[in-house]
Amino acid sequence: MKKTILLLLFCSIMIPISAQKTFEQKADSIIALMTLDEKTGQLNMVTGNWEATGPVLRGSDDKVKLLKEGKIGSMLNIRGTKHTRDMQAQALSSRLGIPLLFGLDVIHGYRTVFPIPLAISSSFDPEAIILASRVAARESVVSGIHWTFSPMIDVSRDPRWGRVMEGPGEDTYWASIMAKAMVEGYQQPFDDGLELMACAKHFAAYGAAIGGRDYNTVDISMQTLHNVYLPPFKAAADSGIASFMCAFNEINGVPASGNKYLYDILYNTWGYKGLVVSDWGSIGEMVVHGYSKDRETAAQQAIEAGVTIDMESNCYSRYLKQLVEEGKVSEQTLDNEVRKVLVQKYKLGLFDDPYRYCNPEKEANEILTPANREAARDVARKSIILLKNEGLLPVEMPKKIAVIGPYAGAKRDMDGNWTVATDKDVAVTLLEALKTRYPGSEISFAKGFDSKENNDRSGFEEAITIAGKADIVLLTLGEHWGMSGEARSRGDIHLPGVQEELACKIYETNKNTITLVMGGRPMIFNQVSEKAPAILYTWWLGTEAGNAMLDVICGEYNPSARVPMSFPKHLGQIPVYYNRKNSGRPSVDAEGNYSNRYIDIDYKPRYPFAYGLSYTSFEYKDITVSKDNDRILIKLNLTNTGDYDGKELVQVYVRKLWGESTRPIKELKACENIFLKKGENKEIEMSIPCSGLRYYGQNGWEDGKGDYKIFVGRNAEEMIFDTEIPVY
Ligand code: BGC
Repeated sequence: MKKTILLLLFCSIMIPISAQKTFEQKADSIIALMTLDEKTGQLNMVTGNWEATGPVLRGSDDKVKLLKEGKIGSMLNIRGTKHTRDMQAQALSSRLGIPLLFGLDVIHGYRTVFPIPLAISSSFDPEAIILASRVAARESVVSGIHWTFSPMIDVSRDPRWGRVMEGPGEDTYWASIMAKAMVEGYQQPFDDGLELMACAKHFAAYGAAIGGRDYNTVDISMQTLHNVYLPPFKAAADSGIASFMCAFNEINGVPASGNKYLYDILYNTWGYKGLVVSDWGSIGEMVVHGYSKDRETAAQQAIEAGVTIDMESNCYSRYLKQLVEEGKVSEQTLDNEVRKVLVQKYKLGLFDDPYRYCNPEKEANEILTPANREAARDVARKSIILLKNEGLLPVEMPKKIAVIGPYAGAKRDMDGNWTVATDKDVAVTLLEALKTRYPGSEISFAKGFDSKENNDRSGFEEAITIAGKADIVLLTLGEHWGMSGEARSRGDIHLPGVQEELACKIYETNKNTITLVMGGRPMIFNQVSEKAPAILYTWWLGTEAGNAMLDVICGEYNPSARVPMSFPKHLGQIPVYYNRKNSGRPSVDAEGNYSNRYIDIDYKPRYPFAYGLSYTSFEYKDITVSKDNDRILIKLNLTNTGDYDGKELVQVYVRKLWGESTRPIKELKACENIFLKKGENKEIEMSIPCSGLRYYGQNGWEDGKGDYKIFVGRNAEEMIFDTEIPVY
């Protein structure tokens, strides 16, 4: 019997190839052979747990049995050619032998760790983003991985939310560019035919959780949903992304995992053809939300909305068959989702060779290579933001260097959160990089404070003593790696503990102090901002962190990164973001009454969106704006007027002055990172397609025609040019 089915399956696969059938048709040939159990199996994703020695299946006998019965279609958290091969073999021994998909959270690199996504976002450099995704993709596919659960493209305006580290930051336009670049980097097939599926997550508006508390309710207007949160997902869909992942949150009363409104937009309005995976357990959580009556209803609501795969809630595996048998869910609905999974397996070539991603030789030779590390270093230095510089940077390293702060020597903290495959002792710390690069220097080190014991001052004395004896001090401050990430929202985003107190003492002791702040989100550090002579915001930079920091400190790389989400001055300002609405009584600088501000704190952020300094300076001249058929054209002349080669992020913002719905006071609509050698001068031309002005208003989509103000700015608050122009 089994032989007949296998033969049938073989023929059904082989015949279409000769007849040049599409992947959909090939998938249908298989669907015709499948039982209901096997169909629901394709929609069931389960985890393998990872322990020191390798993967462990929780209730392992059961999962192996399910694999052999064809009741699991994909797995997450199994990695490495050996382990994925072992699991694949179990699945192939099932009646139809349909291969498994292996997914993993490759969020910022696989074994070679790149900066966290929020840091890469601050590079404002699509090429760097593509490079980071490309290396991550290669290391993944040679390790048995078919699918990364990335890019995370949740716009967020709340730095308390722990997951801002994984995302693009506050701006919708830039997030859309980043989404496109990441999809390109991840999904482009490699020369040997291997390719990675990417996943746009979390669909949608997860970043709008009330109060920045992870998993919290999302209650937003349709205008904000469409204008702020959805466009990066549309960009990912338009770029041909293979999968989407549901968000945990509800939106206006309906959890994302069963939200027909969202999936109608995705499949019908955007014409998306890929699959949708739930988030971990999120189908079952619709009961907890108080939306689904029970888990059976949750399964029905999810599949009817268009959610293809159930990750780890077991609602599909437990109830789908029964729902179809009882006629509550049509078999066609089930088949539609199964087809999406099989099509992806065809695209990856798994029906031709289920082990094609399991070549141990490639795995041994292509991971953590010098070239990959060089790429990580390059992206890392492009991700460091120069926040302040009173002429101290760049420095020629003197003889006596004092290094202060636990993060200077903490390998684990270099990688940051969300690194599932990396070895925790690979990253280069600042201290190690210094010792390697300056073997002749006298380098002293003191922790000064403890990253976990927040109020411990016992290390102050030693730190102040070494600061007093040094020519230069490198002071590392920040939050430790476990303080940002999923379920790591913070109610207070000041630099933790006594760090600022120590920093002030160090500044008093040694004026030549360079402060490096590490972390996964914008933090508040007003005293440091005011008193430090030089501040670099380094985020978590990954494997080559220490080397990249030194490259910037020494001027081998002139910093070019910019703030990807506004840094607040006060907790009470949050949410603080640049593309706010004007209101009828706009905020004013003076403490005037009756304006849109608090009486006790400033309304402006500490560092606005797109802020960032360079070792050189740029002059803008001859800026003109005109309308040319279906575009707005911006021309300008840019000169590097300083002493170093460097990059300038040229930014164009627009404001629609009036209309049927109000629009933000500024929206970024074009930006370009321009490299100029010192003294060099260039004519720059940028354009905004009129289609980019479309917006969702009170009556749905509007073409955006109207009277506009166009700005060119150094960052979102500091404009150097503006003009009004009709766009009709
Ligand atoms: C996260 C996802 C992730 C998934 C699988 C969830 O908790 O929200 O972003 O992809 O786990 O690890």
